[in-house]
Amino acid sequence: MSSPGSKFSPDEIKKAAAELSKRKETVVLTGAGISVASGVKPFRGKGGLWEKYDPYEVAHIDGFKKDPYKSWVALKEIIEVLGQAEPNAAHLCLAKMEQMGIVRSIITQNVDGLHQAAGSKVVIEFHGNTRKLICLECSSAFSDEEIDLGSLPPHCSYCHSILRPAAVFFGEAIPRDAMVQARSEAEQCSSVLVVGTSAIVEPAASLPFIAKRHGAPVIEINPESSPLTSEADYFLQGSAEEVLPRLLEGLISS
Ligand code: OAD
Repeated sequence: MSSPGSKFSPDEIKKAAAELSKRKETVVLTGAGISVASGVKPFRGKGGLWEKYDPYEVAHIDGFKKDPYKSWVALKEIIEVLGQAEPNAAHLCLAKMEQMGIVRSIITQNVDGLHQAAGSKVVIEFHGNTRKLICLECSSAFSDEEIDLGSLPPHCSYCHSILRPAAVFFGEAIPRDAMVQARSEAEQCSSVLVVGTSAIVEPAASLPFIAKRHGAPVIEINPESSPLTSEADYFLQGSAEEVLPRLLEGLISS
């Protein structure tokens, strides 16, 4: 039985599992929702980070350059939460599906590293990550553990300029390798599983549509509908940590 907030039926799970196991070249697109059960807040919606911080002040490259201190207050909070977070059942199920040869890659908008921590091997970090900090001036790179965030903004140990995270800010392009790889995965996959994203931030939001144009069915997992839902072939309405274990069971028994 699914929990009261969930609306998917066992029959839908069975059909979606059959779709995935039939072709075995699934690409997964994940967003903040998959990490909610790991204690990481999403960006949008009730309790989301953008209720507390203005994204155009703290997560836009122009805002960062104008007032790095303000951005770093938010970034420090995010980095500290991510430092404590551990993969949940949803991340672990996707890692298992990769081991089973069902999932070929994960394209994640998340900067939390939880897919890799769960054991997934092929992970495209579409929006970069916050584990690495880079000097705005000399481009030296540091791990987040090397840098003291006690005094903000943090500075480069070599040239003393301000450091930024290796994450993508609004107003910046997606790293070239991630963009090329993600596009190619979307074009080549046999099905696309979209988990825990509001599917509104471009260019990530277009990836499932690229896959669909190339003939891949779209399976969406989210407790809420999104702009993608009307295009999805299967909408498994519920949380990632509840639906993915059911889908994995379906794959194991199919
Ligand atoms: P959002 O915060 O926009 O959306 C989170 C989605 O997760 C929503 O659709 C929720 O309904 C869903 N959700 C909540 N709890 C869930 C759960 N337990 N299981 C599954 N889904 C759940 O996050 P993203 O779509 O990842 O970019 O946001 C995309 C980008 O916008 C982020 O990468 C970030 C942000 O601003 C940058 O900072 C560049």
